[in-house]
Amino acid sequence: MKALGISTSPRIKGNSDLLLRRALAGAASVGAEPEYVHLSDYRIGPCIECNACYTTGECKVRDDYQVLLKKILDADRLVFATPIFFMSVCAQAKNLIDRGQCLWALKYVLKKESLTVGRDRRAMVIAVGGSKSKKQFESIRLTMKTYFDALDMKYIANLFVDQVDDRGQVEEHPSALDQAYQLGAQLAGTDDPPEKTIDIELP
Ligand SMILES: Cc1cc2nc3c(=O)[nH]c(=O)nc-3n(C[C@H](O)[C@H](O)[C@H](O)COP(=O)(O)O)c2cc1C
Repeated sequence: MKALGISTSPRIKGNSDLLLRRALAGAASVGAEPEYVHLSDYRIGPCIECNACYTTGECKVRDDYQVLLKKILDADRLVFATPIFFMSVCAQAKNLIDRGQCLWALKYVLKKESLTVGRDRRAMVIAVGGSKSKKQFESIRLTMKTYFDALDMKYIANLFVDQVDDRGQVEEHPSALDQAYQLGAQLAGTDDPPEKTIDIELP
């Protein structure tokens, strides 16, 4: 089982990045083969809304997206980590998500069979914000639900941590890293997925 972790924060060893690494370690602890991707290492531009994918099912913009899309499609499990920027995912994450329009077009415009048909694919989200706001996680839920639907992945869990701002500050948190590890292990399990997305919000 391949477990892909996509760390979208521009800040390496930042808070969402550290949590993502723990989640991947948890997935590895139950036998998954982890792969870590730092999104800023990939040159991924925004969707240009050319709508070429409405005819071809493929993205016409040529950059590193094609390499990363292959990894995403090969993965059985996905951990997607983002910092909260202005109440939403960071720009790097949003570029990647919007490029998923080609998968959305395959499914809903061209009505083609999924590229991952018949596979048990599952995903979880990690998001970290500096403020006390809980509302900011609502936008993450909505965006990621739509993205995972396009990817044909079951949305298994959220780990949301607020009031963590400085780089690496999450290491001082009493439970966040352990929660990430446990959720990563759970994500990589093969028992029936939970009926409802698991929601863990830590202050
Ligand atoms: C451009 C920018 C926008 C931000 N917007 C928010 C926000 O809307 N809400 C919030 O709680 N924190 C916000 N923050 C703080 C980050 O979410 C916080 O520092 C977080 O720990 C960063 O995670 P990272 O270390 O994984 O990058 C913002 C930070 C930046 C740089």
